[in-house]
Amino acid sequence: MSEPFSQPIDASTRYCAVLGHPVKHSASPAMQNAGIAALGLNWRYLAFDVDPSNLREAVLGAKRMGFVGVNLTVPHKLLAVEMVDALDETAKTWGAVNTIGFEAGSDGEIRSHGFNTDADAITQSLREDLSVELRGAKVLLLGAGGAGRVAALKLVADGVGELYVVNRTESKAAAVAEEIRQRHPAVKVSVGYPRGEVDLLLNATSLGLKPEDASALDEGKFSLRQAKAVYDMIYRPAETPLLHAAKAGGCRAANGLGMLLYQGAKALEIWSGRPAPVAVMRRALERNVYG
Ligand code: ATR
Repeated sequence: MSEPFSQPIDASTRYCAVLGHPVKHSASPAMQNAGIAALGLNWRYLAFDVDPSNLREAVLGAKRMGFVGVNLTVPHKLLAVEMVDALDETAKTWGAVNTIGFEAGSDGEIRSHGFNTDADAITQSLREDLSVELRGAKVLLLGAGGAGRVAALKLVADGVGELYVVNRTESKAAAVAEEIRQRHPAVKVSVGYPRGEVDLLLNATSLGLKPEDASALDEGKFSLRQAKAVYDMIYRPAETPLLHAAKAGGCRAANGLGMLLYQGAKALEIWSGRPAPVAVMRRALERNVYG
């Protein structure tokens, strides 16, 4: 595919990057470079495989070389909390950093500022891609790992009234439920499958990533007919066994591509101070991930 940029790289080109380990399957460069080109910025977005033991030096190096910012993906999001000069409220609230902006202070000194754009992206995608009304909703969440925990806390912060958390390791679901009780005492939160219908079933486990994976849902305990809408955070493959079954049963269903899009769009807005060209970024992302 041809480069989307009208301007060639020159001495004033500035850089952004995603740091991950591994990083080679990241779709962020395709998405962000399309967005950067549409905004007419003389920037480029790169990807670097950085071992966690080198993350501090890599972030410092990017700062010293005048990078605009970096994104962090697995396994760096928690580590980075300790590596920035200041944390935005979003990073403090969710306890993880997926976006760093390098900004010059009034003294001319460059400071690194850590943000979290993942949490907002979850609920934005649920609303925009699946038309879910979260206020007062009843939700079944599968998974209580890193992604599941943030999803649970964000859903409740956005008004979900009743939340059921299911996880292979039940103690992790119990810990997430307890954290919600502490932060939001009015919300009804339980560990295990619910009775009756739910407005949303959300998969935040990694089950479905590999072709041999079973569905993340135990249909002996909860039937897909009880779910009005199903969202799977996985976007590669486009249709996990869970999403396939949901669609076959006539359920509203969406995969996690929107989450990736909206977290990236927000990062570009933080760096550029301008509205992100979301439609352009979505097209580039879909082309990159699904061909
Ligand atoms: P992430 O940051 O993507 O959330 P994670 O913290 O490792 O990654 O969480 C992975 C999630 O997928 C967890 O909910 C995990 O369940 P456990 O907490 O019991 O490990 C879930 N998961 C992974 N493999 C699974 C499997 N084979 N069966 C059921 N759940 C699985």
